Amino acid sequence: MTGIRNIVILTGAGISAESGIDTFRAEGGLWEDHRVEDVATPEAFARDPDLVLRFYDMRRAAIQTKAPNAAHLALARLDREWDGDLLIVTQNVDDLHERAGATRVLHMHGEHLNAWCTACDARPRWTGPLIDRPACPECGAAALRPDIVWFGEMPYRMDEIFAALEEADLFVSIGTSGAVYPAAGFVRNARELGIPTLELNLEPSQGTYWFDEARHGPATGLVPAWVEEMLSPPRT
Ligand code: OAD
Repeated sequence: MTGIRNIVILTGAGISAESGIDTFRAEGGLWEDHRVEDVATPEAFARDPDLVLRFYDMRRAAIQTKAPNAAHLALARLDREWDGDLLIVTQNVDDLHERAGATRVLHMHGEHLNAWCTACDARPRWTGPLIDRPACPECGAAALRPDIVWFGEMPYRMDEIFAALEEADLFVSIGTSGAVYPAAGFVRNARELGIPTLELNLEPSQGTYWFDEARHGPATGLVPAWVEEMLSPPRT
């Protein structure tokens, strides 16, 4: 592709699916008979904190047993080799982009491997469980919760995301259903800015109509092939 310097990439659960991490909306998105939307909310945490902490403890433990796949590795290669601006905005709360070697990563929905102290606002790195109400390493309060953006809460660093979109020459969406806003709206923001848009997803997403181009198949096939295209010198 020619004339492209700055790229914004949005990733979702589909990019980690082939690493063995369940997507949200697979099999109805149920967890122990609860809809994920009923666990991932501040109201659920207030009502039944043990249920919510157990859910996230389980997921935090699980991601640490998984490894990046060829799609994460390809984006890390793009990050290393791309001279222009590049921002990988991920809705994922796993750390597989980073473990693949990517550095220009923004976690708009938080991270499993951080806790958030609601007493002092510290965000310590956290790999173990939270169910036993451990003390915050900064202030000692037993007020740690997952550092995850729940439904009804504001995603992180939206200003930075919109600033990157305004400078972008290409918007690419990978492995996301297009069901959860504001991320699902980025493709329309990109279109309004006149930026070409590309979807790489297993199947047409809910927003597939808005993309200039859509390629459908597993991320481990589509993403390395697209990265190869981006890094290949233009034919003369
Ligand atoms: P979803 O589970 O909604 O969608 C995953 C998408 O990935 C679907 O469109 C699948 O078709 C696609 N997919 C599955 N396997 C794939 C593969 N091997 N290769 C490529 N695509 C594949 O996940 P998200 O769109 O990430 O929010 O969900 C968005 C947000 O909703 C999440 O970040 C989470 C959730 O509730 C919070 O936790 C705040």
